Amino acid sequence: MKDSDLKPVAFSSSARPKEVPVPESVLKEAGFAPGDPVAAIPLGNGEFVFAKVKPDTEFAAHGNVKFGPAQLEKAGLTPGQPLKFTVLPTGAVRAAPLEDPRADESFQNPPRDALDRPVPPAWLIQAFTNVPSVEKHIRNGDRQADLIAQTVSDLGKDIADFDSILDFGCGVGRVLRGLPRHTKAKLIGCDLHEDAIAWLSQHMPEHRFLIGTEYPPVDIPDDSVDLMYAISVLTHLDEDHQIKWLEEWARVLKPGGVAIVTFRNEEFLEAFVRSQEMVERVTKGLMNDGGFVFESHQRWQGVFSEFYADAYHTKDYIRRVWGRYFEVRDFKDPGTFITRQNAAIMVKPG
Ligand SMILES: C[S@@+](CC[C@H](N)C(=O)[O-])C[C@H]1O[C@@H](n2cnc3c(N)ncnc32)[C@H](O)[C@@H]1O
Repeated sequence: MKDSDLKPVAFSSSARPKEVPVPESVLKEAGFAPGDPVAAIPLGNGEFVFAKVKPDTEFAAHGNVKFGPAQLEKAGLTPGQPLKFTVLPTGAVRAAPLEDPRADESFQNPPRDALDRPVPPAWLIQAFTNVPSVEKHIRNGDRQADLIAQTVSDLGKDIADFDSILDFGCGVGRVLRGLPRHTKAKLIGCDLHEDAIAWLSQHMPEHRFLIGTEYPPVDIPDDSVDLMYAISVLTHLDEDHQIKWLEEWARVLKPGGVAIVTFRNEEFLEAFVRSQEMVERVTKGLMNDGGFVFESHQRWQGVFSEFYADAYHTKDYIRRVWGRYFEVRDFKDPGTFITRQNAAIMVKPG
């Protein structure tokens, strides 16, 4: 994969801020009032999501307005481009491209949360989620970090004893930021998103952040990591990439080290997918194609590369294939570890 695949698509310098008319009913539903400062990023599927920056807190709170490809095209906007939005008194939304996102105030001078930790800009949070809420980002990430500590403890280990923890596909540090409440371990975050890694390196300099590559290796010595986790990462990669990364994670883990990796299976489909046609198609694929399905689509276009789409696994597949690299000790059902995914709890043999 080329680095350029991951960078926001550049706006031409002659681009003017665009106006996108938003029906009053939509504004109201989203909780926006004229004059509200709003931040947003277009999603890869041609929609984009607005997040209102609440004037009475330093953080963004959120309404959620989505525009389809036709509206985007009319406004001359490109998926993947970080934008700042303002609702004008006329009810229109003005989208101004962030010419240099890393120079923006939101990147350079982040607000602090209740635990005095820096908070990433809404436009970076939105690169990784459909739920563009800074509060949820902090709350869910901390809860996920607590569940990681608990899962380690269920294996008879104590995260407080660990020296080194890898968050593979760390995004802008949603989960990783919650771990120092449990451990003094050195944290290593790795992600393909260069702006996210730049933000983390600048604002959490006591830890180590690496720009990811499409394929291994990652710059981490053999047998050096006590715990690695990949949340919502193998749910997006094709089988070839998955196998190579599983092998690499086994390399960097210490013997006896813990790997927590999320996936989605039939339980996810039944509980969370509304389209019956999709449920049937993927379920059939899981039965006929050896327990693994990879579905490519436009959803992430412009944000991530083409090997990034949606993957589904059965537990049997995980025992059989992931089991080549790890002892598969346990599975967590959706809602017990991560809301909408399953998780495999694994240990490196030795
Ligand atoms: C859906 S996001 C999840 C982010 C984060 N784990 C969380 O739960 O908030 C998946 C992430 O995996 C990252 N990713 C995918 N392949 C990767 C690779 N080869 N190296 C590093 N990161 C990768 C993507 O860049 C993306 O940020």
